[in-house]
Amino acid sequence: MSETLAPSLEATAVQPEPAIAVTGLSKTYRTGFWLNKVVSPLKDFSLTVARGETFGLLGPNGAGKTTTIKCLLGIVEPTSGRGTLLGKPLGDRSIKQQVGYLPENPYFYDYLTAWEFLHFAGKVFRLSDSLLKERIPQLLELVGLSIDTARKKPMRTYSKGMLQRTGLAQALINDPELVFLDEPMSGLDPMGRYQ
Ligand SMILES: Nc1ncnc2c1ncn2[C@@H]1O[C@H](COP(=O)(O)OP(=O)(O)O)[C@@H](O)[C@H]1O
Ligand SMILES: [Mg+2]
Repeated sequence: MSETLAPSLEATAVQPEPAIAVTGLSKTYRTGFWLNKVVSPLKDFSLTVARGETFGLLGPNGAGKTTTIKCLLGIVEPTSGRGTLLGKPLGDRSIKQQVGYLPENPYFYDYLTAWEFLHFAGKVFRLSDSLLKERIPQLLELVGLSIDTARKKPMRTYSKGMLQRTGLAQALINDPELVFLDEPMSGLDPMGRYQ
């Protein structure tokens, strides 16, 4: 009896919502002094990404990759279309705690050390000091940034690749379920890219 039941139970098990599900997403920017020029980098874009999946967006400069990520994150409002992120409608704030984001051109507070910056980023997520004391060195090791440098040197003295590594650590500070990395390889040396 149990043998015949098992497969049917499996078949009816509730599937978790996809990490990303969007349909018909479009974005039109109005530019120019009179806002009379129109750019439409995103037209009727649909995508489903399952949880646990790694998905890459490839395309030339200006193709609309960053715009797509910003629409998914609720930073830019799509002109039309709808979708969900971790089962919640686009723009829903309740899932921000579970999402990490490395922007294409992150701005770093030059006079902070990487450690101070990561601590600040952790505090934005309301993580405790004791948790951050454990997590920051783990992340620094993961992204290949020396703990000594991260503790002592301000970020204005970092190379592009070191800043990119700091940005990657920042995107993971909240141990997110879903991570968006915009041009993650930018500035990294071949070894860094491989890692
Ligand atoms: N805030 C904005 N206002 C007007 N046009 C924009 C804006 N952001 C992006 N664009 C335009 O949208 C197009 C797509 O840009 P983007 O999404 O940054 O492309 P990608 O990341 O693939 O290089 C480009 O033509 C860009 O100039
Ligand atoms: Mg881009």
